[in-house]
Amino acid sequence: MNIRPRINRWTAARRELLFGDSMLSSLVQPHFVVAGENVDQPIEGMPGIHQQSVDVLLQTVAEDLAHGLSAVMLFGVVASEHKDAHASHAHAPSSHLHRAVLELKAVHGDDLVVMTDVCLCTATDHGHCGLVHEGDIVNDASVDVLVNIARSHAEAGADYVCASDMMDGRVSAIRTAFEAAGLTSTGILSYSVKYASSFYGPFRHAAQSSPEFGDRATHQMDIRSGYEEAVLEANLDETEGADILMVKPGLPYLDVLRKVADSVVRPVAVYNVSGEYAMVMNATSDEASRERMVVEVLTAFKRAGADVVVSYHAREAARKRWVK
Ligand code: PBG
Repeated sequence: MNIRPRINRWTAARRELLFGDSMLSSLVQPHFVVAGENVDQPIEGMPGIHQQSVDVLLQTVAEDLAHGLSAVMLFGVVASEHKDAHASHAHAPSSHLHRAVLELKAVHGDDLVVMTDVCLCTATDHGHCGLVHEGDIVNDASVDVLVNIARSHAEAGADYVCASDMMDGRVSAIRTAFEAAGLTSTGILSYSVKYASSFYGPFRHAAQSSPEFGDRATHQMDIRSGYEEAVLEANLDETEGADILMVKPGLPYLDVLRKVADSVVRPVAVYNVSGEYAMVMNATSDEASRERMVVEVLTAFKRAGADVVVSYHAREAARKRWVK
């Protein structure tokens, strides 16, 4: 398999994100991108986080960058009229998500690390992360679609495509497709160790990606599975050519994060997911207590071995200088 260690060194911003020694430089801010103009819609259950159209997103990211936040993870929210059984809109180069990548890179170039979510669930009419055949979420045909999505994001200029679907073999398929297309500097962040967690509720609302029937238990990891399964998934993705390995959720799986960080050689990321964010926001009524709690949470991730922390708290922590 093609492992290209240079990908994580390609730009100064990537090096800072992965190898910098400050808390601030390791943070990634997630964004929900919607179609339209001048849209800045607060998300239920996630105070401070909005769905934004590309024009508003550009302003927000520019302000965040000025406060030292130089990595974003973009989720494309697809309107129901564009959803179908094959998630076609997810790889349509004319989509607002693709435009967001192009425009962010046009303005900020290598100063910004742009990560994009690669999954089917926001663009399928049934809300599943893969194609559905006779009630089953099929694997290999779904991987073909994931490859198309990943390639389209890479062609728009994404630094990292982030496979969040949990299909088997998708990292090697994406890596092989990138090699064939000459996309030798685009990285793959793999959601390697992703549990079928009950902490994703607010996100599914924000991304309009809840499954219409069934659940995600046939592909996301069983919450009762042990360290062996976590290490198996992480090692597989590493062998298949992932450049960053992610553990998700964060707080309920700090032990798994430590185990994975000790078991792999590539950089490790953690996703401080929407339900964890909502818990902190609901548990604090004043800013001073929120600051203490957020700093404590972020510190725990670093201690457990995360090089990169994806968190909805990133913006407030950066803008209010809670972290340096
Ligand atoms: C898409 C995806 C999900 C999240 C990130 N990518 C939802 C899911 O798997 O159902 C959750 C992120 C969060 O809760 O903040 N597959």
